[in-house]
Amino acid sequence: MQHTTESAIDVSTLLTVRDAERVARTMLPKLALDYYRSGADAEITRRANRSAFRKWAIAYHVLVDVSRIDARVRVLGNELASPILVAPMAYQCLAHPEGERATARAAGKSETLYVTSTMATTSLEDVAREYDAASSGAGQRWFQLYVHRDRGLTRSLVERAEANGYGALMLTVDTPVLGRRLRDVRNAFKLPTGMFAANFLPAGDISKAGVDAQAAYTSGRHEPAFSWRDLAWLRSLTRMPLVLKGVVRGDDALRAVDAGASGVIVSNHGGRQLDGAVANLDALPGVVEAVASRGPSDFTVLMDGGIRWGTDVLKALALGAKAIFVGRPILWGLTVGGEAGAARVLEILRNELATAMALAGCPDVATITRDMVVRS
Ligand SMILES: Cc1cc2nc3c(=O)[nH]c(=O)nc-3n(C[C@H](O)[C@H](O)[C@H](O)COP(=O)(O)O)c2cc1C
Repeated sequence: MQHTTESAIDVSTLLTVRDAERVARTMLPKLALDYYRSGADAEITRRANRSAFRKWAIAYHVLVDVSRIDARVRVLGNELASPILVAPMAYQCLAHPEGERATARAAGKSETLYVTSTMATTSLEDVAREYDAASSGAGQRWFQLYVHRDRGLTRSLVERAEANGYGALMLTVDTPVLGRRLRDVRNAFKLPTGMFAANFLPAGDISKAGVDAQAAYTSGRHEPAFSWRDLAWLRSLTRMPLVLKGVVRGDDALRAVDAGASGVIVSNHGGRQLDGAVANLDALPGVVEAVASRGPSDFTVLMDGGIRWGTDVLKALALGAKAIFVGRPILWGLTVGGEAGAARVLEILRNELATAMALAGCPDVATITRDMVVRS
C-alpha cells in the first residue's frame, strides 16, 4: 500500500489536533482512513462523544497564582508528566511504516503512558523495547487484551505481557462481538499484504507466517461468552493490575471493584462498538459517584473518547477522571510525521491543557474540582 510521497511536513506548523487530522486525511489511502475514522452503524455515538463536551462550560477562577502549572498525575503507581495518555489502537502500520514503534517512542519520550493493542502490527516485545529505549523509566506501558476463544492463546499473551514488563493489563470489555463499521464492510477491509497482527505471528517471525497472520485472530474468534465469572481466571494468570476498558455504568464499575480490578476506563471504543451508546463524558459522573459511594479507595477511573482540545481534558478531569486517553488524534499525528507527528499531537494537547489550567485558575490537577464545570 502506497502512502502519498509528498515532502515531509514540518510538524511544528500543526497548531491543533484538527490541523493534524486535516493533513492526515489528504495522506492516508482510503482503506486506512476509513478504518481509522469510522464509528459503528449510524455513528451516533462517535459524534455524541464530541458533542458531550460542548454541554459543559468551565466556571474559571481568577486571581490565582498560575506562574507554575503542574499537570503531573499518578496513575496506578505510574508518575506521569501529564494526564494525557495514549489509547490502544490496532494496526498502526497502516498510518506510517514505523507504526507502533513510532507512537511508542513518542509516548516514551513524552513520559506518558502507552497502551499497546492485542491487534498491533508490531509485537508486544518490540513495542516494549522501543518504548523503554525512548523513555527514562520503564513500566509506563500497559498491554490491552482481547480475550480469544482459545484460552491457551489468551494465557500466552498475558504471560508474554508480564514477562516483558508491562505495568498493567487493560481488558477491553465492550467487544464481545465486533461492531459493524459500514465503510470497512464496503471496503472489504483487511490488512494489506505484508502487514500482520504481529502478536499472533509464530514467535513473532514474519518470515514463518506465510499466510496473513490476521487469519489467526479474526473478529469471529473473540470470546462472546466471557463474563464476570471468568475474570477470576484472568486474575489468576497474572500479578499485573487489571483495568477494564469500556465500562459506562456505575453498577458495572462496582462489579469491577468487587472482581479485584484496579480501575476502569469509561469508554465506548470511540463509538466503534454499540451505536447509540451513551457518550463517555455523560457516563463519567455516574461511574465516579458509584465508585465514591464505596468510600475512599485507590480504584482509578479513567476515560477516553472525543478528546480533541486541552479544555476537553480539563472538563473530563473536573467530572472525575484521573486521566484520559486519546485515540484517533495520535493516528493523525503518526500519519503526518511518524514519531515526530505523534509527539507533536501530545505536545499540542499538553500545551493547550497548560493554558486552560492557567486561564481557569488551576495550577495543578488537584485543583480541577467538580465545581470547575457547569452545564451550558
Ligand atoms: C483505528 C482504531 C483502532 C482501535 N483499536 C483498538 C484496540 O485494538 N483495542 C481497544 O481496546 N480499543 C481500540 N480502539 C479504541 C481506542 O482505544 C479508544 O477507545 C478510542 O479511540 C477513543 O476515542 P477517540 O478516538 O475519539 O480518542 C481503537 C480505536 C480506533 C480509532
